[in-house]
Amino acid sequence: MCGIIGYIGDREACSILVSGLSHLEYRGYDSSGVALMEKDNVNIYKAEGKLINLVEILKTKQDVISKAHIGIGHIRWATHGLPTTINAHPHTCNCKNLTLVHNGIIENYQELKEELTKEGCIFKSQTDTEVAAHLIAHEYGKTNDLLLAMQSAVKKIKGAFAFCAIHKKEPDKIVVAKRNAPLIIGVGEGENFVASDIPAIIEYTKKAIYLCDYQVGVVKKDSIKIYDDKNQLIENKIEYLPFEAIAISKMGYKHFMLKEIHEQSDVVRNVLSSKLTDIEHEIKFDEFKLTSNKIKNITRVQIVACGTSLHAGLVGKYIIEKFARIPTDVEPSSEYIYRDTIADENTLVIGISQSGETADTITAIKQAKNRNSHIVIITNRTDSTMARLADSLLPVNAGIEVSVAATKSYMAQLISLYLLAIYLKEQKGLKENEKEIQNLKHELITLPNKIEMLLEKTDEIQRIAKKYSSYKDFIFIARGINYPSALEGALKLKEISYINATGYGAGELKHGPIAMLDSNMPVLAILNSGIVYDKVLSNCEEAKARQAKLIGVSDYIAQKDINLFDDLILIPAVSDILSPALNIVVLQLLAYYISEYLGKDVDQPRNLAKSVTVE
Ligand code: F6R
Repeated sequence: MCGIIGYIGDREACSILVSGLSHLEYRGYDSSGVALMEKDNVNIYKAEGKLINLVEILKTKQDVISKAHIGIGHIRWATHGLPTTINAHPHTCNCKNLTLVHNGIIENYQELKEELTKEGCIFKSQTDTEVAAHLIAHEYGKTNDLLLAMQSAVKKIKGAFAFCAIHKKEPDKIVVAKRNAPLIIGVGEGENFVASDIPAIIEYTKKAIYLCDYQVGVVKKDSIKIYDDKNQLIENKIEYLPFEAIAISKMGYKHFMLKEIHEQSDVVRNVLSSKLTDIEHEIKFDEFKLTSNKIKNITRVQIVACGTSLHAGLVGKYIIEKFARIPTDVEPSSEYIYRDTIADENTLVIGISQSGETADTITAIKQAKNRNSHIVIITNRTDSTMARLADSLLPVNAGIEVSVAATKSYMAQLISLYLLAIYLKEQKGLKENEKEIQNLKHELITLPNKIEMLLEKTDEIQRIAKKYSSYKDFIFIARGINYPSALEGALKLKEISYINATGYGAGELKHGPIAMLDSNMPVLAILNSGIVYDKVLSNCEEAKARQAKLIGVSDYIAQKDINLFDDLILIPAVSDILSPALNIVVLQLLAYYISEYLGKDVDQPRNLAKSVTVE
């Protein structure tokens, strides 16, 4: 993870770096730092914790920092070493001529460190980045050329990196390199930028070059030169950035998470637009590049994703198997990449990722690509690494999601998967479930209104959140298509409130977890009207018999069953098949209000980051 930024031009570098870092804080907030070059002097400022701590330090140095027009900056998500100031980037070498910021993990840093220690390098931090700084400086000693030093250093490094380096003896440039970590070079007029992601520079330029793996770039005030791994100068491919310089604001909401939960009805409308217009017509999916003949040849689907996106994939399995009748496996990308997976040209591999930068999912996709499978990417970021690997790119257009806990992007992924499942069925010409499909299409079209109805009565959820906020543990149960909702509800609660919450298939409760039940362990049961209602209800009875407090989330509870529950949250009537899209809104709100009530940092929970670019 981590975010990096660089500026070279005539403006005051520091304010551009800090503004850029504020837009990269979603990538980590363990520490931050900037290095500012003025003539042949480099001043480094670092702070532990959130960016605001660095800003406070910089306020006291205004007279020094205002003179610097070149600089690099970093926001850290700790991988090697504690989140302390000493481990904060930028890092330097012995003579402090070279300064470096880095995103990624250097896998062979121990070996390199041992070799460099023998050469006299003295290390102050526990980071792998400091090793890279010494290595580049060591190579510089052989050539006195920062470009050559970077090129030769990266050949010795195993792992993932995006580097941004400056050198006191070459004060007119920033040198960058990347492998398996994102890096863009923003193209300006008489100034240029470097960043891990677009929001960091979009205020200043709408043009950028996406650096590719194994390339090294020399960024000067009025030129950008990019070299391949054979040191050949390559033509700059300038692209227009797909973002407006939008003011990313909370729009009056207390937190981004709450705002993003409330945006979900519009997100659904966006995903549906131009694909599903009415219930009579087939789904249109221009982005899906396989012909119907090829679709008919698909023998299996593999879905790879992590965290919340993985939970969307689990719902995807249910509906793709049900409607398109294609066997579907869902696997965390981080496990998929350590198996000798069976995939071929008749396998459809679907990568789901909000950020499009999750390292494990990128590796899984590359593995499947090598087996000639057709790669579908469902992502919120059409400019991401994953999007570039797609054979069929399905953008979800949920808009920037700032809160680290994913909400609206999950909703967008779910809806995309519903459309995809119906599309695959229609392209295969399957005639089963016609009535159900028509009903589902109708429900999808009316879903935004139902989400809005649900969001109008959050008071009840707020009351229940307060009532349960002092519990230390929670169990979420559901069956069938809502099993992933139980997993996602538990994940939302634990990541933003730090309450220990686990999701189970309700039928699994009696195979072990029931041992934990007593009056201190609330059980939240999702039980929509449908085929599993009675079964989940029996599991609720079993929990109640162990004195567990019971919260029910449902669109319908029979009168005779109401007293079983300590608290009930009723959602608008919905079919079992589409109910995950409504139930999740309740679970997101419950997690949000518990976290808010406990005074936690809702949008930036501890130890997490929005874009997980390390394996
Ligand atoms: C949880 C959350 C994470 C991500 C996971 C994958 O709220 O956001 O679990 O879902 O890190 O990230 P993406 O979707 O960017 O691949």
